[in-house]
Amino acid sequence: MPTNPKFSSGRERPTPLWLWCAAIVCTVITLAVIIAGIVTFIGYLVIHPRVPYVSVVGAHLDPLRIDYAGILQIQATIVVRAQNGNKMAHVSFSHSNYTLSLNGEDIARLVAPPFEVSKNSSVDFNYLVQSSPIPLDPEQAENVDMALKRDYITLDLKGSARARWRMGRLGSVRFLCHLDCHLHFHPFNGTYIPSRCTSNAK
Ligand SMILES: *[C@@H]1O[C@H](CO)[C@@H](O)[C@H](O)[C@H]1NC(C)=O
Ligand SMILES: *[C@@H]1O[C@H](CO)[C@@H](O)[C@H](O)[C@H]1NC(C)=O
Ligand SMILES: *[C@@H]1O[C@H](CO)[C@@H](O)[C@H](O)[C@H]1NC(C)=O
Repeated sequence: MPTNPKFSSGRERPTPLWLWCAAIVCTVITLAVIIAGIVTFIGYLVIHPRVPYVSVVGAHLDPLRIDYAGILQIQATIVVRAQNGNKMAHVSFSHSNYTLSLNGEDIARLVAPPFEVSKNSSVDFNYLVQSSPIPLDPEQAENVDMALKRDYITLDLKGSARARWRMGRLGSVRFLCHLDCHLHFHPFNGTYIPSRCTSNAK
């Protein structure tokens, strides 16, 4: 005699309700993920965002001053442009922090407070750089002397800024804009010799 009436009924065991619910929930989640992906992709195509970047767009070197003890002072203006090519979102730039160096010796730090760049525009920052007095060892003094004779001097600019797109409730996207370039000048008249100096990967 079967003790379990289910076996004696001869009918299939019905699918439990919780399994139906789980299947429906899974389907809904899968569809939601697919739709979110399609919406994001179309949004990307429509907005066609350009990654924000920083670049040096101009500079000027004031006359170098070296005293008889071999102490150098440098004063310069460096214009860094923060570019937001995104037509839909503001960009916040922060932690702008660059180091200017001469022959591997750090001579000044360029920092800026956080700032905003509105849609499809740019902001130029004029950094007025004044080095602290730099005591040169004989080799460095020789290098600077050579640079003056050739009327060609190179300063190195290295550093980065952080950029952030804020996209309403969708959150934000962060970027690191990294600069590592050589800035060339004619020290006699202080003219900057333009060269490519940008964090833009393209
Ligand atoms: C800038 O970066 C240097 C290291 O590269 C760090 O020592 C310094 O504290 C930073 N300055 C600011 C203001 O963030
Ligand atoms: C974005 O700026 C460029 C030039 O700066 C301009 O030609 C273009 O029309 C602008 N686009 C929008 C959507 O404002
Ligand atoms: C500065 O000097 C360089 C080299 O002598 C020259 O090519 C350049 O035109 C000068 N610039 C200005 C603004 O006088």
